Formats: sequence, C-alpha cells, structure tokens
Amino acid sequence: MKYLIGSVSALALSLLASSAYAQCDDGEMVIKFSHVVAASGHPKGDAATMLADRINDEMNGTACMEVYPNSTLYDDDKVMEALLLGDVQLAAPSLSKFEAYTKKYRLFDLPFLFSSLDAVNSFINSEDGKGMLTIMEDEGYTGMGYWMSGLKQFSANKPLEVPSDASGLKFRVQTSDVAVAMIEAMDASAQKLAFSEVYSALQTGVVDGQENSWCNIYTQKFFEVQDGITNTNHQLLSYLLVTSTEWLEGLDEEVRNQFVSIVEDVTKQANDDVAQKEETCRQNIVDANGEIRELTEEQRSQWLETMKPVWEQFEDDIGADLIKAAEGSNS
Ligand code: SIN
Repeated sequence: MKYLIGSVSALALSLLASSAYAQCDDGEMVIKFSHVVAASGHPKGDAATMLADRINDEMNGTACMEVYPNSTLYDDDKVMEALLLGDVQLAAPSLSKFEAYTKKYRLFDLPFLFSSLDAVNSFINSEDGKGMLTIMEDEGYTGMGYWMSGLKQFSANKPLEVPSDASGLKFRVQTSDVAVAMIEAMDASAQKLAFSEVYSALQTGVVDGQENSWCNIYTQKFFEVQDGITNTNHQLLSYLLVTSTEWLEGLDEEVRNQFVSIVEDVTKQANDDVAQKEETCRQNIVDANGEIRELTEEQRSQWLETMKPVWEQFEDDIGADLIKAAEGSNS
C-alpha cells in the first residue's frame, strides 16, 4: 500500500477526500470498506480508520484497505448487494437495516431494552449475542462483530418532553418495522429514509423529527435544523461489521486468521471507546448552542409506558427467550 503524497491532480485530491487510502500496490488484496457516517469524530468512522491503519500496517504487501465514508460509495441498502457481488468486502450497517435478511435483529430495536451501553456490551459478548453474528450465513453474509454506536435520542422541530408532544408529527426512521411501530405508538407517523437524505428532509420540512445517536446528530448537524434534542436514550444504535461469507472463506487460512484477529482487536477497542465518544459529541452540541432537554423521572416513565407495548408485536419474530436474555443483561 502506498500513501499518495506530493503532487496530485484535482481528481486524485477529490478521491483522497472521500477514501482514507487511495492506492494499493499491485498484488495486494484490496479490501474496500463502505459506510455512511462521518470519517472521523464518530464511533464507526473512527473504528473503520483504526481497522484500515492496522491492516495497512500489519498486512502491508498482502492486503490493503480503502475506507469510503459518508455514503460516497454505497448507501446501506446497496452495500449489501455490493458485498455479494464482490464490489466491496466490508460494511457496517446498523442492525435496524437487516430486515430483509433476518427478523431476529429486531431484538436490538426494541425500545428501552438496554439501560446502558455496559448492558449492551454484556449481551453482545454472551453466547446468545455471539450466536446472532452468524444467523445470515444462508443469505451469504457473516457478521464479524458488533460495533456499538450509542443510545438514540429524539429531536423535532418543536419541544418534545412527553410522547404526546410528538402527536401528529412525522419522524424519519431507518428501514426498521420496530421503529415504525414505536413512532406510531407515539401517535406520530414514520418515514423510512436513507441516512444521507435526513439533513435535507429535516431542513425542508419533509419530516419534522428524527431519532439518532449523539454522534450522528452532531456530525450530520441535525441539531442545527431542529428545535432541540430530548435525552430519551430510547433505543440502541449498533452496527454489524459484515462481510461476504464466500469472500471470507475464500481467503488463504493464514491471511484469514490474521485479518480476523485484527478485526477482533479493533472491535474490542472501538466498543471500549464508544461511551466517551458519545459524551464528546453530546458536549459538542451543547458548545454549538444546540438545545438539549433532560427528562424528569415522571416524563421518562411516560416514554417507557408508551413504547413498551411495541415489544409484544415483535416477540414471535425475535423469540421470548432471546428478549429475556437481553433484558437480563441490564442487571
Ligand atoms: C449509521 O449510523 O450508520 C446511520 C444510521 C441511520 O441511518 O440513522
């Protein structure tokens, strides 16, 4: 892998701006990683860069990783096809975006399932959590690890303190039927939209509000086109680092082992850093004069009560035992 330094054309400069590394050496296996968030200052963007740095250093001459952030290569729907076609080797869509392949990941979208990122960590490292990494192998995908991002917060173009404040509003959601059910429980309507379209949808009033992690709200500047953000912590945002099973199994054993071992290290380190990164993004919003509303205990109970019935709707798809196991990680 060569770093492009020195005299570069305008085209090369624009390519450099959209990918972390723009040139692999002949003979090196190219690993393309496409994602949709900011390249830095975001748990996923930073983890992708950390992974590329490790691969390009430790596997130099054998493998070379290029990272394409900010939906510059594919959005989260298209990237799944691209993995099977071999146009890209790694992606990390949120767990809400796998509806077409498995209904089991609906678990992670259940509102107020996890009380903290520590609880999430405990579940994803349990036998149940690890077992869910490989449930899409019949579809051709292998999950290599969960990359956590944070808990989600609601924002809207008017103050949201209790769920009834959302009545009649339209919220952008990911491609998740659980998210739709949750918004409908608030007597609001949901619109599924690609991540890259959210800012302009909020700005132009196509939707009134959205839900996301502190780092997405900060790095995509959603807070600038919303009245404020309510600290609801109502749902998890976590990613599946996913690859094509055929590609992974086709690697030479030694190369695969080294690659998997680097992925495992980076996954652990990235997940250990998430809480701190999320707190920094929250503080950045405050420093940029974004309005953040804290809930009283009484207000929080109203959000919980409104959303809890959503669990029942999806229990058959997920399995009551799995829900119980995930809930158990809160203690
Ligand atoms: C992401 O964090 O990868 C995007 C999440 C979203 O679509 O809201």
